[in-house]
Amino acid sequence: MCGIVGYIGKRQAYPILIKGLKRLEYRGYDSAGVALINEGCDLNVYKAKGKVSDLEEYVGDKDISGVVGIAHTRWATHGEPCQVNAHPHYSSSGNLALIHNGIIENYATLKAKLQAKGYLFKSSTDTEVLVQLIEYIQTNKNLELLEAVKIALRSVIGAYAIAVLDKRMPGQIIAARKSSPLVVGVGEGEFFLASDASPIVEFTDKVVYLDDEEVAVLNPAEELKVVNLHNVGVNPEVKTIDLELSQLEKGGYPHFMLKEIFEQPDCLNDCMRGRVNVEANHVVLSAVIDHKERLLAARRFIIVACGTSWHAGLIGKHVIENFCRIPVEVEYASEFRYRNPVIDERDVVIAVSQSGETADTLAAVEMAKKKGAFIYGICNAVGSSIPRNTHTGSYIHVGPEIGVASTKAFTGQVTVLTMLALCLAKEKQTIDEAAYLQLVEELSRVPDKMKQVLEMNGRIAELSRIFTYAHNFLYLGRGYNYPVALEGALKLKEISYIHAEGYPAAEMKHGPIALIDAEMPVVVIATQNGMYEKILSNIQEIKARKGKVIAIVTEGDQVISKLADDVIELPGTLECLEPLITTIPLQMLAYHIAVCKGKDVDQPRNLAKSVTVE
Ligand code: AGP
Ligand code: GLU
Repeated sequence: MCGIVGYIGKRQAYPILIKGLKRLEYRGYDSAGVALINEGCDLNVYKAKGKVSDLEEYVGDKDISGVVGIAHTRWATHGEPCQVNAHPHYSSSGNLALIHNGIIENYATLKAKLQAKGYLFKSSTDTEVLVQLIEYIQTNKNLELLEAVKIALRSVIGAYAIAVLDKRMPGQIIAARKSSPLVVGVGEGEFFLASDASPIVEFTDKVVYLDDEEVAVLNPAEELKVVNLHNVGVNPEVKTIDLELSQLEKGGYPHFMLKEIFEQPDCLNDCMRGRVNVEANHVVLSAVIDHKERLLAARRFIIVACGTSWHAGLIGKHVIENFCRIPVEVEYASEFRYRNPVIDERDVVIAVSQSGETADTLAAVEMAKKKGAFIYGICNAVGSSIPRNTHTGSYIHVGPEIGVASTKAFTGQVTVLTMLALCLAKEKQTIDEAAYLQLVEELSRVPDKMKQVLEMNGRIAELSRIFTYAHNFLYLGRGYNYPVALEGALKLKEISYIHAEGYPAAEMKHGPIALIDAEMPVVVIATQNGMYEKILSNIQEIKARKGKVIAIVTEGDQVISKLADDVIELPGTLECLEPLITTIPLQMLAYHIAVCKGKDVDQPRNLAKSVTVE
């Protein structure tokens, strides 16, 4: 959510900042801005509502010179998206400019105090309070910027990643974070700053991930200095990032989402590499080996996640309970964190998150940790906050996911949860050898089966045209495919803005059946498994009410193809692995409907890729 970029060094900052903001566009935003200090020590701030390209247009031929600058894409939390509320914000004197990602929860109290001292505010943001507070402390106590920032942040409640410029000290950027991501890139006589490594990767592979309540001083004349809010020096740990520039580009596809849908077979191979070994007939996750006793002693697992990751968690519950005989609960992180759940050191909490930065999931992790639970992270973004706050975990290794609608991360998460179930079941001896062998073999075949499904892209694109004008969609599935129905509906609403709901098929008669008429398309996942006969009856019920059925069936199905209006045939697989196959056509359907409707597929309205605020 929102993006921060900063540069200080020998090069002109503006082009680096703009490029960086573009790399962060996938995170979702509504306005953008930049602050630069030029040679004459003027602090120029330019901002615009809309896209980074609107900012560029606004900047036109204004003075964009300077070797130090900060830039921001805002996702409004306090105050409407408009030029005044966009960041950077000046302090009253115009000496400071600040960008901020997150929320200052006690901004109203701080603002009232500053107003009482005569400070005037231009914007309705919580952020402007912070820059005024820093200036107030700086002038009143006659302190340097670093000291004033530390004192100000000590009185702040909330989440922040910030960067501050002071035109009287043009040789430094001060940056700090708490609960919002911030990475420093370390170059030769230059520093970069960003919300994640993607704007940095083309300049340097050396990065420092700041931790909560850490403040960094980026001054190219010195080594990177990091202190915490309580004045304790921190030795910054420089890490090498393993990210190729090509991974961040569209590679010939019209949208990142389509590229990411098509990457899934390769991603799953990457995810299983070194973990699933068919010759040796085993699945191994190093986290399970390292923490075997703790995991096997668990009285239950609690999966916490949001959105698509929560759907993956529901599939994880099925597969872990089925093979490991361990009770599993799946919780929305946002609800879990504010309950007072019964949880202690006998519990294992599995946090599932693509970005590793989702504020609610991170808070749930911290709460469960305090209560003594053992925390296992399943994340994609390496080095992000959740993996850094868990006891152990397994990365899904599907590469950067740029499209706001999650696709390859979902199948990666389901694959890791399945591998986790297999590892534990083997250790617990709750799975017989033949079933285990069959599962290992079939799991390794999934990427090839996904490729077969991807070949249907053209046909699904055709089919999608018919549904461009639909106002509602229903998605039905049972068992392992019920979470897939939820995920299919979420994909459609996120990017096409068509209202869609996912239901367990048998629940239809308890309410949603009232919605069915000739205008209502119903996507039914009706593959050949233990639920087939039941689903068949559900399809009959829909047809009896003239609903339009798009059935997702197993190759060679003779019965449903006669009943349904449209049929998508998929290669068969084991029931517990079906979600990895049945999800693909639903991703493609949502994608093509959104394209037909002319929607912004990669950056849908109101959505952010990484939800770092509650
Ligand atoms: C998925 O398409 C969504 N954009 C969203 O639901 C997402 O899955 C959710 O915000 C959780 O994100 P995370 O996996 O990064 O924690
Ligand atoms: N809360 C701040 C605002 O509304 C920052 C939002 C963001 O993270 O972009 O301006």
